[in-house]
Amino acid sequence: NQEKLSSARFSESTDAFVEAFTASIQFDKRMYKQDIQGSIAHAKMLTKVGILNQQELNDIINGLQQIEAEIAAGNFSWSIKQEDIHMNIEARLTQMIGITGKKLHTGRSRNDQVATDIRLYIRDEIDAILPELKRLQHGLLSIAEREAATIMPGFTHLQTAQPVTFGHHMLAWFEMIKRDVERLQDCRKRVNTLPLGSAALAGTTYPIDRHYTAELLGFERISENSLDGVSDRDFAIEFTHFAATLMMHLSRFSEELVLWSSAQFQFIDLPDRFCTGSSIMPQKKNPDVPELVRGKTGRVYGHLMSLLTLMKSQPLAYNKDNQEDKEPLFDTVDTVKGSLRAFADMVPAIIVKKEMTYEAAKRGFSTATDLADYLVGKGLAFRDSHEVVGLAVAHGIKTGEDLSEMSLQTLQGFSDKISEDVFEVLTLEGSVAARNHFGGTAPDQVRAAVARGFAELA
Ligand code: ARG
Repeated sequence: NQEKLSSARFSESTDAFVEAFTASIQFDKRMYKQDIQGSIAHAKMLTKVGILNQQELNDIINGLQQIEAEIAAGNFSWSIKQEDIHMNIEARLTQMIGITGKKLHTGRSRNDQVATDIRLYIRDEIDAILPELKRLQHGLLSIAEREAATIMPGFTHLQTAQPVTFGHHMLAWFEMIKRDVERLQDCRKRVNTLPLGSAALAGTTYPIDRHYTAELLGFERISENSLDGVSDRDFAIEFTHFAATLMMHLSRFSEELVLWSSAQFQFIDLPDRFCTGSSIMPQKKNPDVPELVRGKTGRVYGHLMSLLTLMKSQPLAYNKDNQEDKEPLFDTVDTVKGSLRAFADMVPAIIVKKEMTYEAAKRGFSTATDLADYLVGKGLAFRDSHEVVGLAVAHGIKTGEDLSEMSLQTLQGFSDKISEDVFEVLTLEGSVAARNHFGGTAPDQVRAAVARGFAELA
């Protein structure tokens, strides 16, 4: 079985380097389960339409199951001469069951076979990634619930803007991951299309029953056009796009975790088990996990660009170019799963230093907008109140006082509309509690949003 593929047509054997250069077995053996699953379904379909008999089907199924066990146990001997996962398995099957093994490929091409395998593979991985995304969402909801009333500075331009609750901030990440879940679920619909039956490109002369194969493999629909069926890799691009967007979100989150755990911010402590030390500086505790996730974002962006560029300008139908779809895809899957696992484990274990976030929120005049809104309530136009508060802030910068630390007399120097009740709005608690509408940062709103989130996940 070690001879050249379609050897009858050639007058010399393949150059040894070319053989290795064109082979994909080194990486596509990862899809062995899907390849066997697809072949069993194909054989059952061939039996249903009378191309194989029951005995042949039994032999094929037994053989393929034995091969699956050999591969799982690490006892399968891979051959680069057999080029890829499809030929390696078929050659072994023929070695085991004889001529019947040679009948398996009836009405099929590696072109529709590989397209089917990749779809089965991505579908399996989507079904493994979705629960991990949910686990991360769960972690975000639990930390949001715990820190619903914890006050921290909210930023724009990384400058102190207005106080927010830590829980509200976590729920922003929850929303992003929720959209990632929606994108992945939507991508799954198009992944879940059966190309098998397209054969090499034009379909096949055998009376195949594609709906039956689709049903056996759990595909929701079958591809409508055989040329498109073998050459379409949109679904791989879509999956990688989902992954790139998720990694973009995780990289932003990572950046905040890295900043927040620094000695300059001191907003959080990451549990030691997610950090490492330095070989030279004894005091160091480095936030390696978020840093690495931030870094890994680059490779997933790269894979998205690889796949888009791989497909660019390819004429119909199958081209060998497409063999290059696998490594970017596989690395995307590994990177996303690793990053999600790390985040889902780490996020609920983040230790929030409430006193530090509170003190930080007091710096930077975070309640200035509250004072402006207060003056509007007392009859000033917003632009005028904005001006008045600007003067008060300028004064505070000179004296080193926060607005809440100024005397009533000082404040009244900026506007005679200010009275004793101003101090209620100048406190951080008052500021966050006042933003008490759907989507606002008030602790009550955070708790309500957490409850909605848990209900959605259930
Ligand atoms: N290893 C190939 C791939 O990954 C399988 C399809 C090969 N088909 C062909 N006609 N050479 O795309």
